[in-house]
This record gives sequence, structure tokens and C-alpha cells, in this order.
Amino acid sequence: MKKAIVTGITGQDGAYLAELLLKKGYEVFGLKRRSSIFNTARIDHLFEKDRQENSNFKYAYSDLSDSSNLIRIISEFQPDEIYNLAAQSHVKVSFDTPEYTANADGIGTLRILEAIRTAKLVDKTKFYQASTSELYGKVQEIPQKETTPFYPRSPYAVAKMYAYWITVNYREAYGMHASNGILFNHESPLRGETFVTRKITRAVANIALGFQHQLSLGNIDAKRDWGHAKDYVKAMYLMLQQDKPDDYVIATGITTSVRDFVIMAFNHIGVSIKFEGKAENEIGIIDTIDFNILKTKVENSPLKVGQTILKIDPFYYRPTEVDLLVGDATKAKTQLNWTPTYTLDALIKEMVDSDINLMKKEDYLKKGGFNIIPNVEDII
Ligand code: NAP
Ligand code: GDD
Repeated sequence: MKKAIVTGITGQDGAYLAELLLKKGYEVFGLKRRSSIFNTARIDHLFEKDRQENSNFKYAYSDLSDSSNLIRIISEFQPDEIYNLAAQSHVKVSFDTPEYTANADGIGTLRILEAIRTAKLVDKTKFYQASTSELYGKVQEIPQKETTPFYPRSPYAVAKMYAYWITVNYREAYGMHASNGILFNHESPLRGETFVTRKITRAVANIALGFQHQLSLGNIDAKRDWGHAKDYVKAMYLMLQQDKPDDYVIATGITTSVRDFVIMAFNHIGVSIKFEGKAENEIGIIDTIDFNILKTKVENSPLKVGQTILKIDPFYYRPTEVDLLVGDATKAKTQLNWTPTYTLDALIKEMVDSDINLMKKEDYLKKGGFNIIPNVEDII
């Protein structure tokens, strides 16, 4: 039985990757950090299985700032594979917490690589680093591929740039099987609520149900290459099954603006939007409603034509923005035999439907709609 450590087990990708590895017969050791509130909602179903019939999922407390903890865990568990998914992953937050972000996202990667060396596992343990399309930042080429020069535009991206290169360096210096997945944005019903896609799909559900009146966004003209997290964790796994380590872009090759994501998400419930005004004064108004569609999603929705449902709030602007990302995943297609299976339309449908179901749940209403995420088994 292969053994894998997954850092960031409580995050979106940690949940999907753990599920995938367990299905493949791995023993999975998830690392989670201590929190003052429960932070395991995405993986609770795995703990339940653990306590009942499935003993292949274990976890330990850990933090990427704690070298001795990482050395102890890696020495004791002797993993075949380590997937380093833990990070302060919010780009805007990294402008407020640049030093912490550098420590966790940059030096944290070094700490794991050093722990592998200290545990004398260089020849045994394969390492995956969660690198990012944010490295391309102010893009030097369209589309972006493995050879495109980096130009990071946030403390997050700069920290991830260190992590990228230290991974390459340990591969070259010590012969480690260490690979970077340069993943473009990937989303799902498990996506954190403050990333733009989930913020939008939650708002669509809440607005349709009458729990929220308006959605406030920042730069809606930014463009991203959005895929489904379920597809992207397969690519992580495939990278560590190769004879040789390497770096791969993982992307759909299609870019869409935040504005169009909003339009598509509302279209899914039968609502079309028109935009008026410019820049900070731009608003989104309901243009038409197809009640035949809306009724199938939400009965008795209070939505009305002419209602303003979107406004721009400069609070969400970033000091430096990444305007456009679109990836060329030809190398992954050719060498890993990886291709995305979800269209953006299918991804949005899954996210909006999941959020509508979530918001409808009685317990959600009782709790006033705060910080609840879907039952993972419903959607993985
Ligand atoms: P996520 O949902 O934000 O999950 C991040 C995970 O890291 C969470 O489990 C979080 O714990 C944990 N974490 C944060 N700081 C930590 C620390 N100091 N020590 C230990 N654990 C810590 O992110 P994701 O979307 O799953 O992304 C996974 C990885 O891929 C991240 O490294 C991200 O930067 C990278 N990435 C993501 C995308 C994307 O589009 N999703 C694209 C490219 C790269 P809590 O649950 O307690 O917060
Ligand atoms: N979060 C957020 N909230 N973003 C907004 C908003 C808003 O209200 N309004 C507009 N945006 C724009 C952002 O300015 C950005 O251009 C775009 O929407 C996407 O923002 P996020 O969803 O926060 O994702 P990201 O692209 O900055 O970063 C994500 O993808 C990276 C890979 O490219 C994160 O998952 C990173 O961890 C990941 O590395």
C-alpha cells in the first residue's frame, strides 16, 4: 500500500485529492492546522469512514511554519509521496499579510524539502508542489506555458515563486523526485467562499432566495482560465506517477472574464443581466427573467426585472492586478495523458445548484446563512 502525506488537507484541493488517493488504495496522512473553530467540514466524511470501516485516512496537527513538527511527521510516516497543498492561498489577503504569506507559502515549502532530506527519504519520497498560474502575473506571453517567463504581481505570487524554484533546485541538487504543478484557477462547490467564483454562485443562490439583495465585486474585467478541482487533483497524482520529475501547466485553455462568469451564473437560474455605468459606478440590473427556469430552481423567488443585483466596490480591487490568465496544457496532455473533463458551463451549473441546495437547507436558515459548506458526500 502506498503512503501519501497531504498538507492543506482541510482545503478544497486537499479534500478532492484525499478522496482520489483513498479510492486508489493509498494510506493518506492529512496535515491540518489548529483552528479555534472546526475546520474539517470538507473532510469530515473521511474521518467518519476512518472511525467506521476505513482505516486508511489519518491526520495530524501541523503547520508549515513548524520545521520540527514536519521533520517528526515525515520521519515517522515515511511517505512514498508528499503533496504540498497548504498555503495562505488568497491573493488579496497576501497584500495585508505579506510576511506570513512568504513564511507559509515560500519557506514552508523549503521546510518540507529539508525534512525529506533530514529523514533520509530523498530516494524514496516523491514531492508535489502546488505552484500557480499567478506566477505569470503580468503575462509575458499568451497563452502561458512551462517556458513562459514569470512576472509575479502579489506577495502571494512572489512567495510561490520561491517555492517553485526551491523545488526545482532540490530536484537538480539532490536528485529528488520533486515536481511543480503550475495550476490555473480551479473551482468547485467546495471552493472557499471568498474566491470570486464561489462568492458569485453563493450570491446567485442567496439573491434568488431573497436572502441577499446585491453582490459586490471588484474588477469584473479580469480574465481567468477556470477548471474543476476534481480534474486538477488527477493531474497532481499523475505527476508523481511519472518515472522522472518535471513541471507541468494544468489549464483548460479557455479564458473568461469575471463579468461573463456572473452572466453565466445568473443565466443558469433563468435571469439575464444588463450593465449600466462605468468603472466604480457600474451596476448590474436584471434585464429579463425566464420564470419557467427560475421556478425549477427556486419556487416563489422574489426576483424582479429592473432590480439592481450587482455593484462595484473598490474595496475588492488589488494594488496590482493579474488581468488575464490562459494556459496551454499541451505538455500535460502529451506526457501525462491529462485532459480536463468539465466545461465552464458544467462547473457553474454544479456550483450554483449546490449553493441553492445548501442555502435551502433548513439548518442553514436557522443559522442565518453563516459559513456553512455543503455535505461533501453530496458533491464529490
Ligand atoms: P485552500 O482551499 O485555501 O486550502 C489551503 C489549505 O492550506 C487549507 O487546508 C489551510 O488550512 C491550509 N493552510 C493555510 N496556511 C497554513 C499553514 N501556515 N500551515 C499549514 N496549513 C495551512 O486552497 P486550495 O484552493 O485547496 O489550493 C491548494 C493549493 O494550491 C494552495 O497551495 C494554493 O495556493 C494552490 N493553488 C490553488 C489554485 C486554485 O485555483 N485553487 C490554483 C493554483 C494553485 P485551513 O483550512 O485551516 O485554512
Ligand atoms: N476574491 C475576489 N473577490 N476576487 C474578485 C472580486 C471579489 O469580490 N471581484 C473581482 N475579483 C477578481 C480578482 O481581482 C481577480 O482578478 C479574479 O476576480 C479572481 O480572483 P480570485 O477568485 O480571488 O482568484 P485569484 O485568481 O486571485 O487566485 C486564485 O487562483 C490562483 C491561480 O491562478 C487562488 O486560488 C490562488 O491561490 C491561485 O494560485
